[in-house]
Amino acid sequence: MKIHQAEFVISNTDPAKCPKPDRPEYAFIGRSNVGKSSLINRLVQRPDLAKTSGKPGKTQLINHFRINDLKGETPWYLVDLPGFGFAKVPKTIRDQFATIITGYLTSRPNLQCIFVLIDMRIPPQKIDLDFMTRLGEAELPFAMVFTKTEKLKSGGRQLALEAYREAMAEIFDTFPTYFVTSAVTGEGRDEVLTYIEELNSE
Ligand code: GTP
Ligand code: MG
Repeated sequence: MKIHQAEFVISNTDPAKCPKPDRPEYAFIGRSNVGKSSLINRLVQRPDLAKTSGKPGKTQLINHFRINDLKGETPWYLVDLPGFGFAKVPKTIRDQFATIITGYLTSRPNLQCIFVLIDMRIPPQKIDLDFMTRLGEAELPFAMVFTKTEKLKSGGRQLALEAYREAMAEIFDTFPTYFVTSAVTGEGRDEVLTYIEELNSE
């Protein structure tokens, strides 16, 4: 999948005001600061398209980006969402973000895949496992996307994967589709885009 064009469409808290769900859509979800906005920027090769910050809680709205809206191409959406669960983000804000995320997830029939981002340097967290459990129960399609992986050597990656395989085996019969990515080096970009291309053409 080649990205020829990417543009910001709209930000809001109200899923009803999101673009008409008539194109394939891919959402990026995960704990605050995990690297959702950075990965979107890396996928589209535009460092400033989605706003990023070292401070958790930067993305506060549902942000739609339209990709490849050009003659002869099939446009689709990337969606950047607020993060969940970061202790340093005040609870009232965390609750607002959770409401936005739930409202969004339950109102987008065009959602082809939810990319659940997980910082590969951190051991499996209950909040991420619970989130994926709920996605599984709701039969929403998702894939795991490990982030910040340039910080780990191959041994560290193997150990992290084993820990996740063990934790996920308690919940799911099969390990989900997963990607090992870095917004810094671009690792995993081609794999994620190829996956999107496959889903777009289904
Ligand atoms: P919220 O919008 O606050 O939920 O955060 P987010 O998940 O969108 O994270 P964001 O992309 O803003 O990145 C958070 C921090 O992590 C920033 O300081 C990024 O530079 C850093 N970061 C993101 N991706 C990577 C990565 O692949 N490697 C490294 N080393 N740092 C990263
Ligand atoms: Mg963000």
